Amino acid sequence: MSILIKHGTIVTAVDEFVGDVLIEGEKITAVGANLEGKADKIIDASGKYILPGGIDQHVHYSFDFKGERVRGFETSNAAVAGGTTTVIEFVNQEQGKGIAETIANYDQKEVAPYAMADYSFHGVICDPRDEVFAEIPTLPEKGISTVKLFMAYKGLPFHSDDEAIFKALRASKEAGVTVMVHAENADVIDALQKDCLREGNTTPYYHAVSRPPLVEIEATERAINLAKMADAPIYIVHVTAKEVMETVRGAYSQGVPVYGETCTHYLVLDKEDLARPNFEGAKYVCSPALRTKQDQEALWEAVNKGWLNAVSSDHCGFNWQKQKHMGIDDFTNIPNGSPGVQDRLSVMWTYGVNQGKISKQRLVDLFATTPAKNNGLSEKGHIGVGYDADLVIFDPDHRAVISNEDSLHGVDYNTYEGMKMEGKVESVFLRGKLMVDRGNFIGEEGDGKFIHSKAYGLAYDAKEKRTSNV
Ligand code: URP
Ligand code: ZN
Ligand code: ZN
Repeated sequence: MSILIKHGTIVTAVDEFVGDVLIEGEKITAVGANLEGKADKIIDASGKYILPGGIDQHVHYSFDFKGERVRGFETSNAAVAGGTTTVIEFVNQEQGKGIAETIANYDQKEVAPYAMADYSFHGVICDPRDEVFAEIPTLPEKGISTVKLFMAYKGLPFHSDDEAIFKALRASKEAGVTVMVHAENADVIDALQKDCLREGNTTPYYHAVSRPPLVEIEATERAINLAKMADAPIYIVHVTAKEVMETVRGAYSQGVPVYGETCTHYLVLDKEDLARPNFEGAKYVCSPALRTKQDQEALWEAVNKGWLNAVSSDHCGFNWQKQKHMGIDDFTNIPNGSPGVQDRLSVMWTYGVNQGKISKQRLVDLFATTPAKNNGLSEKGHIGVGYDADLVIFDPDHRAVISNEDSLHGVDYNTYEGMKMEGKVESVFLRGKLMVDRGNFIGEEGDGKFIHSKAYGLAYDAKEKRTSNV
């Protein structure tokens, strides 16, 4: 099957031009102006943008918080409907099992039969035995090239201490595996949470009070120092605050291979959302906590200038009526995380591009191209010959308001409810298959496939080993 998309404005991380894209089978086989030749189907994209399908390198379809679990891959159509064609899922290692073994079981039972987006995995180290660190260098041959450790969440099974992080860094570096960390000081949070509860401060707003920026700054500095001691690169997930971003930028400018992302919600929401009445604030309980409008400005500048190299959703589909209400009398029991996989492109376009904070090229880079590189997905994230035909046709003129009624994520609220949405995902191709047609999802469960993540995704000191040519 061949498809020729004509007269669209093609946007890449470095370019923008009116042209055509030829898809043959699962691949892009030609890109250029006025492509001639036959195709089984011709689509006119005049007046529309053609963007690469997004890579969301930070999603949770299996996260469990105090016994409550998020919605799974049966809701991954939401990603595709929002222009994200590949998601990278954090899989918590099961106690007593290996990382690859845990992931293979999960993939077979809960991902492959349901996935509607392509997917890859980060292994979350939860059982830090020596055999587990010894397993790390073998992961890339199984298509897993990133591991993550949580410095936060004291007392929960996925919390890690510094010894585990240091050992993971040492084991990873020679194999080109990237260590990612959730950087917050778990002990201080625990003490501050106890203070809040003792004083009768139980509402969602105290989630932010008990997790001030300094707990993130301290842990980020510590993670960077651990990386320095291990002489290994490190990736800081979900950076939220100006000073945290400056810590990452400062270390990088001194030659430390430290990289970071932020997430959509930290760019447009702030801690006052946690104070919404009638327990609505619980919808915004995610960690690290939402910050201030000044932090939002600093984060926009950081993603514009490349000091943070990706914008992820940190999608976490907990239901408000039941699951978030676990914490009605005690904010520490509110499951952490908010949904957002469908809204990443809309929010970045409306509040980033259309408000002059980032260019369309920067959007493509943050949304697709660099997350693909970070994770060694060498055939994803770019519109070029030989790349997977993951494409979004985007109508910039559409105007709407974000509503949970239009969300496919399978939970009872939308984090961005009521915010304006400029532009619309009109069509989405996943490896050449039309998955979204005139705004309607038409794909099927099982359309998504596992994509091998190659080692040496991060460009630190191994450029010759880089897997992407962009
Ligand atoms: O609150 C969040 N971010 N929930 C998901 C787990 C994590 O910390 O990334
Ligand atoms: Zn986290
Ligand atoms: Zn997360």
